[in-house]
Amino acid sequence: MSPPFYITTPIYYVNARPHLGHAYTTICADVISRYYGMVTDDTFFLTGTDEHGDKIMRAAKKENITPRAYVDNISTLFRDLWPQLNIRNDYFIRTTDADHMAVVTEILQKIYDQGDIYFNEYEGKYCFGCERFYTDRELVDGKCPDHQSEPEVIKESNYFFKMSKYQQWLIDYINENPDVIRPERYKNEVLAFLREPLDDLCISRPKSRIKWGISLPFDPDYVTYVWFDALINYVSALGYPNGDKMQTFWPVAQHIVAKDILKPHGIYWPIMLKAAGLPIYRHLNVHGYWNVDQSKMSKSIGNVVEPLQLKNVYGLDAFRFFLMRDMVFGLDSNFNEEALVNRINSDLANDLGNLFSRVVTMAHKYFKGVVPVMDPTVAQDSSLDLSEKAVQAIAAYQQAMESFAFHKALLAVWEFISHMNKYVDVTTPWVLAKSKASRPQLEVVIYNLLEGLRVVAGLIYPVMPDTAATMIKHLGLDADQPFFKMEMIKAWKTLTPGIELPKSTTLFPRIEQPRKEPTDAMDKPENALSPELKSEIDISAFGTIDLRVATVMKAEAIPRAKKLIKLDVDMGEPQLRTVVAGIAGSYEPDTLVGKQVVIVANLKPAKLMGIRSQGMVLAASNDSGAIVLTLDKPMPPGTPVQ
Ligand code: MSP
Repeated sequence: MSPPFYITTPIYYVNARPHLGHAYTTICADVISRYYGMVTDDTFFLTGTDEHGDKIMRAAKKENITPRAYVDNISTLFRDLWPQLNIRNDYFIRTTDADHMAVVTEILQKIYDQGDIYFNEYEGKYCFGCERFYTDRELVDGKCPDHQSEPEVIKESNYFFKMSKYQQWLIDYINENPDVIRPERYKNEVLAFLREPLDDLCISRPKSRIKWGISLPFDPDYVTYVWFDALINYVSALGYPNGDKMQTFWPVAQHIVAKDILKPHGIYWPIMLKAAGLPIYRHLNVHGYWNVDQSKMSKSIGNVVEPLQLKNVYGLDAFRFFLMRDMVFGLDSNFNEEALVNRINSDLANDLGNLFSRVVTMAHKYFKGVVPVMDPTVAQDSSLDLSEKAVQAIAAYQQAMESFAFHKALLAVWEFISHMNKYVDVTTPWVLAKSKASRPQLEVVIYNLLEGLRVVAGLIYPVMPDTAATMIKHLGLDADQPFFKMEMIKAWKTLTPGIELPKSTTLFPRIEQPRKEPTDAMDKPENALSPELKSEIDISAFGTIDLRVATVMKAEAIPRAKKLIKLDVDMGEPQLRTVVAGIAGSYEPDTLVGKQVVIVANLKPAKLMGIRSQGMVLAASNDSGAIVLTLDKPMPPGTPVQ
């Protein structure tokens, strides 16, 4: 049995209603927690709300209610939303909980007693939006980079935490444990911060200014700075210092946060832990930001995306799948409904949904709806061996999951699905069904396909628990936990011949694209023909160009070539082809993997930045970038394009 697993989300501020960004982080935590639930019996998933501080006090004032009534309202919105998104957190912490407040007090006293907190008069530039002082170095044109406002100069006496004392320790720790902050770009960002001398952290706010907070145990005229209070939730929820959960889960703690709160989690928190005599977390997993139609989500722009609205229109599992499949964990992503609909139609309705209904329908048609007996002596073409492909898919999936590369994990499952679709096309069960002599082969084919669906159901369970349960039920099994344990998923030949299968069902109906208002650029007739058409050619001239479907298997940036990406594509040939494409301005390499593109396959090879490029990727291009042509539905690599 694998070691226990502990995952946390940030605790969200209660000054705004939950939106797509909060839902994404919390769904990531749910997915990873369900995944680890498949490999170990001991998982703990924590989320909650961050309820102290000036920001909250001002939000309550605006609504003319007490801070207590205000935090109770919004915290409930978060708490009640999660079950509706099928999120199964084990505990919901609030920083206004008495237990949490007691732990903050205890840790402050301990650090104070050992001399790591000192009192000092300080004059500095304070951003009320961020609730912190800024150094001149951190300001952009004299303004807070987040709020675009000039901070106010405040002079006051406060308590400071000696972070500088631990700076070298933290640098050494990160260098010795290079995967502690991941993906790597964020580790590098933290190390870059640490190259400058670290200021001590102001951890108090005078009660004359802010009353809504945890009193400092060594000075009742002050409350604790919200970040010092909030970060401690990760241990107070486990019953710090001696609770059983603390012993079990703290040594394996992993956090998920977005890049906006990298500094408190990458710098303040490990130093606080060190000062408190605790080991630091095992991993800090940092993701990027969801933007909406290319802009930052914000109330003032009016583009805040409500998770429940999307669930109601598109279905919960489709929504969860889209978030996990479309964002490369670590990079920013752009949310738009068109992309969501495309994903539902291609990956869910087409690839998975069709395969499922095709296989279950065949089991009904050829075997009266029972799992067929499989004769192990029937010869199989080893290149089509589904069990072997399942083993490969599971290995790739597990490796990707454990590094939080959710999109890659799903890609591995979809490669397996595409292999199963190919298996149906090649084995042609409808032909086997025509003669009695090929009945044993037909039994093997349908049995294998049902088994393949069982594996797929298990692997999609963390992301789409409801769909996984529906699939399992249609395979004649009870949709309870054992079918979603990794050992069970891996064991090929789990289905018992003779089990009755319920009739097939539609897992995901196809969805119409939402109607789009034509944009200015689409309207203008002069844009349509710009640049001008080239002179006419006859069909034979076009026929000399060999266009083929290719699947992108690998994509990498090319050092020193800002515009170029190196693609390794599967064109149905024995070996992958390398093609260099000038599309780096429009894509992060990772997001191209798995896409089907069109290649000019008979173009003379050329060397670009020392790389031999065998072909060209078709792309629509203008001054704003180059967008590759992809296929509306999947086709086998190498298919001609005419
Ligand atoms: N209260 C602090 C966290 C304290 S943790 C000890 C806080 N709260 S917050 O409500 O502002 O939540 C920030 C987090 O919400 C981000 O780190 C991320 O997890 C999530 N997101 C908010 N907007 C987001 C996007 N637009 N995109 C992706 N995630 C985002 O900071």
